Amino acid sequence: MRRSLFFVVAFLGIVFYATAQNQPTLKDAYQGCFMVGAALNPAQFSGRDQAEDAIITAQFNTTTPENALKWEVVHPQLDVYNFSPADQYVQFGQEHHMFIIGHTLVWHSQVPKWVFEDANGNPVSRKVLLARMHDHINTVVGRYKGRVKGWDVVNEALNEDGSLRQSRWMKIIGEDYIEKAFRFAHEADPEAQLYYNDYSLENEAKRKGALDLVRKLKAKGVPITGVGVQEHVSMDWPTTDQIDATITDFAKLGVKVMFTELDVDVLPWPNSQQTADVSLNVAADPKLNPYPSGLPDSVQDALTKRYADLFRTYAKHCGTVTRVTFWGVSDKDSWKNDWPVRGRTNYPLLFDRNSQPKPAFNAVIQAAPKQGS
Ligand code: XIL
Repeated sequence: MRRSLFFVVAFLGIVFYATAQNQPTLKDAYQGCFMVGAALNPAQFSGRDQAEDAIITAQFNTTTPENALKWEVVHPQLDVYNFSPADQYVQFGQEHHMFIIGHTLVWHSQVPKWVFEDANGNPVSRKVLLARMHDHINTVVGRYKGRVKGWDVVNEALNEDGSLRQSRWMKIIGEDYIEKAFRFAHEADPEAQLYYNDYSLENEAKRKGALDLVRKLKAKGVPITGVGVQEHVSMDWPTTDQIDATITDFAKLGVKVMFTELDVDVLPWPNSQQTADVSLNVAADPKLNPYPSGLPDSVQDALTKRYADLFRTYAKHCGTVTRVTFWGVSDKDSWKNDWPVRGRTNYPLLFDRNSQPKPAFNAVIQAAPKQGS
């Protein structure tokens, strides 16, 4: 009796082990369709967060630095570059054979004020700002030439109505700052893929602005490979029809489409305008934080369905959509816990606070096109 029990337990152990070894992974499920990635923080790319690193190396084949390559981190003062976090990020990516993304060269946020000002705090001239932009792009892109394979060259240049945002880049240089940024990046690494990245491109007016921008850049021979749709979405915005149309519209212009910062916000949105503008800051209120100690089953189910719908939509466009990157790995380190309201408990990703896969993880695997079909 004891012996047969031993055999049963041993048999179950072997079955369990074999099943664990054969667990499908995100990168394998979408192999031949698009790459799947995540944005990484320093604890992950330095090796301090081993639970997360196990997920990253098993599940993803592309990575983006959440903050390490933003101007304020990598180039805090005129003559000071701080490459240690970015070097570590790139090294991590190389060790694990990732398609390494650089984020981001020219943006109006997380860029120090000195970039736009002279020693007296007055705005610099177009010529000086272009020279600073050139130095920055040439130094940063040049350092990782051949290793960082794709760059978010310009981030968030558009307003919601599709017009060009009056950022300091725009005010001082004029609208050709975008074209210049792409040309400087291409000069520094002619092999790198170069992207325009923005949020809310699923909304028609803003999308039209982005389509016009890409069309103009292409007409001038500016080397742009693709458009990054950030994809900080909620449970009901954008619709899968809007996403579908967005992919189709950009594909017609001959550029690749990437979903570059995917997360799904399950919490109440505090005002009427859905956005990913990092400057938004709303006061905390318990009403805005309804699930501090766990997600109710009904919301978990809705999140699972939302993720399945999103990935089915992306997978309709395999090859046109070349990458889907999550903005983080597990719920515990998502920026959505602190933005646009600080200190909330959000559930936007596929792995929970204990780095365990959520039901949405399985739904995303299930949504993948069957191999060979
Ligand atoms: C966010 C980071 O996740 C935060 O850690 C940081 O404090 C602010 O920026 N659009 C982008 C990303 O392009 O760089 C932003 O990342 C999220 C919105």
